Amino acid sequence: MKVLLIGSGGREHALAWKLAQSPLLTKLYAAPGNPGIGEEAELVALDAEDHSAVIAFCRDTAIDFVVVGPEAPLVAGLADDLRDAGFAVFGPSRAAAQLEGSKGFTKDICARYNIPTGAYQRFTAAEPAKAYVREQGAPIVVKADGLAAGKGVTVAMTLDEALAAIDDCFAGAFGSAGAEVVVEAYLDGEEASFFCLSDGKTALALATAQDHKRVGDGDTGPNTGGMGAYSPAPVMTDEMVARTMTEIIEPTIRGMADSGFPFTGVFFAGLMITEKGPELIEYNVRFGDPECQVLMMRLKSDLLPILYAAATGTLDQVSAEWRDDVALTVVMASKGYPAAYDKGTPIRHLPAGGETGKVFHAGTAMKDGQLVATGGRVLNLTATGRTVAEAQARAYALVDQVEWENGFCRRDIGWQAIERG
Ligand code: AMP
Ligand code: GLY
Repeated sequence: MKVLLIGSGGREHALAWKLAQSPLLTKLYAAPGNPGIGEEAELVALDAEDHSAVIAFCRDTAIDFVVVGPEAPLVAGLADDLRDAGFAVFGPSRAAAQLEGSKGFTKDICARYNIPTGAYQRFTAAEPAKAYVREQGAPIVVKADGLAAGKGVTVAMTLDEALAAIDDCFAGAFGSAGAEVVVEAYLDGEEASFFCLSDGKTALALATAQDHKRVGDGDTGPNTGGMGAYSPAPVMTDEMVARTMTEIIEPTIRGMADSGFPFTGVFFAGLMITEKGPELIEYNVRFGDPECQVLMMRLKSDLLPILYAAATGTLDQVSAEWRDDVALTVVMASKGYPAAYDKGTPIRHLPAGGETGKVFHAGTAMKDGQLVATGGRVLNLTATGRTVAEAQARAYALVDQVEWENGFCRRDIGWQAIERG
C-alpha cells in the first residue's frame, strides 16, 4: 500500500515510524514532514492548504491511503475533498471535525445525547455571558468557541478573572475563534486523555495518556501544546475505560451519525475523572501531540491496517494490542516558548534511541547541512520502562545527551504517576 502522511510534527514522526514498520506498506510519503520523518518516508513539498495540489499528487503517485495528522487540514475539509476524489482517508470530514473546531457544537451534542459534561451556555455577546457568570459564580470556565491553539480556555477561580476572560474573547484576543464564547461549569478531579478509533459505526478503544500542559515544573506557568506525556494513565482503570466507552464514546458515535455527520478517525477525549465518574472536557479529532508518541511506543500491532479499517468502515474486523510497559516522552522546546523564541538555533547532537528509546523530531529542519530548531516544541525524547520511574529515568538520560544550547525541558514529566506509587 502506498501511503501519504500529512503533517510535520512529533506526532507525525511517531506515526511515520510506526507506519514504516508495516509489512503492508510499499512506500511512505510525507508532506511536508521534517528531517526525522525523512528517515522513514520520502518528503514531498506539498501545501496541505492547497487541496487540489494534494489530490493531484495522490493521483500522479497512485496513493492508496492518506493519513491526516493535524486538525487544521481536517477542519478545512481536506478529508472531504480527498474522499470526493476517490481516496481512502484517515480523518474526519469537515462537519465531523466540528467536534474539535467548535466547543459549542460538542456541548450541544453532549446535551442532546446525554453525555456527561459540565453544564454550559453559549454566548455571542459579552453582557449576557457576564450575567450568566455572575449568576453561576466562580470557579467557572470561559472558552473561545473555535480553534485557539489550546490558548482559548480560562479556568477562572474568581469572578473577576471570568469577566476579564469574556472581555478578552469578545475584544478579539483569539480572532474569529472568540466570536462565540462557551461558559461552562468547573469540573474537579483528575484529568486523563482517552484515544479511540471510529469508522462511523464501530469503536475501537486504543489507550490512555496523561499530558503536562503547563510550561514549568510542578505544573506552573502558561499553558502550552504539551511539555510531556506518559501512557497509560493510572487514573484510567479498566472500569473507567469501560464507562468512558459506554457513557461518552458510544453515544457520541450514535449522535454524530444521527446528526448526519458520521465520525471516522480518532477521538481524543479530554476527560475529567470526577467523583461521579468520567466527564467530557473536550474532544480533539486527531492524535494528541505528544500523546501519540507514547501511544506508538506501546502499540504492538501493525498501525496501518487499523487506521485503514477506521477509514473504510471495517473497524469491527481489527484489534489493537498494547505492551504492558509504560512509555514517557519529554518535550524539549526553544527557550522562550510558549512566548517568542529564536528560530534556526543549531542542534549539534542527538542520541540514538536504542531498544527502549526513540527521539522524535517535532520542529526541526536541515539548514546548510546542520540540524536546526524551527519550532516552539522541537524534540520528543521518548522511552519505555516497566514503571513510570524507569521510563522517566531513560527519557531524561536521552535528554541529557542532546547538545542544543537553546533548548529547555521540564524535569518532572510523570510526577503525578510517580507520586501515586
Ligand atoms: P481544553 O482546551 O478544553 O482542553 O481546556 C484546556 C484545559 O483547561 C483542560 O485540559 C483542563 O485542564 C482545563 N479545563 C477545561 N475545561 C474545564 C472544566 N470544565 N473544568 C475544569 N477544568 C477545565
Ligand atoms: N497535547 C495536547 C494536544 O495535542 O492537544
